[in-house]
Amino acid sequence: MSVRLSRDEAWDLLAEWVQSESLRRHCLAVEAAMRAYARKYGEDEELWGVVGLLHDMDYERHPDLDTGHPRVALAELESRDVDPVVVRAIASHADFLGVSRDSPLEKTLYAVDELSGFVLACAYVRPEGINGMTPKSVKKKLKQPSFAAAVNRDEVRAGAEELGVDFDEHVGFVIAALAERADDLGIQGREAA
Ligand SMILES: [Fe+2]
Repeated sequence: MSVRLSRDEAWDLLAEWVQSESLRRHCLAVEAAMRAYARKYGEDEELWGVVGLLHDMDYERHPDLDTGHPRVALAELESRDVDPVVVRAIASHADFLGVSRDSPLEKTLYAVDELSGFVLACAYVRPEGINGMTPKSVKKKLKQPSFAAAVNRDEVRAGAEELGVDFDEHVGFVIAALAERADDLGIQGREAA
């Protein structure tokens, strides 16, 4: 029998492996988006959230994509007998591992990963934070290559296409999901801070 990690267990694991506040926030943002899509699709919200929380758990300790992330996370989760569904989903978000994205869980992780990071970046530079953010403003920023340059624009687009969602709706959906967790994510804006 494989192990089903609870949200608390997944958070403890993440907190042990990741000290960087910004990487923790990225993982929390992806968790928020995953949980929102799980609700929308009638899927297992806790499971999807755990995948979001843990997908980058080894990135701080093992950032080298040739030898490290996410292989170390996969090995760690396997050694703990974590549900193979979780392990496979995390493997599939790394294009370079060549693991196909087959399930809605896998496609959703890929679709929200880079975009969640990008929406966070957009929120940090707005005085209002996430409040009142529109898909239009996010798309405008996507067209500025120098803004949050580390976010792969092709991946953002491809993720939505693979998932089969309208791009604007997808961006709006992720904004709303992150807005629900604005306090945890530090994106309430300067007024509220
Ligand atoms: Fe990520």
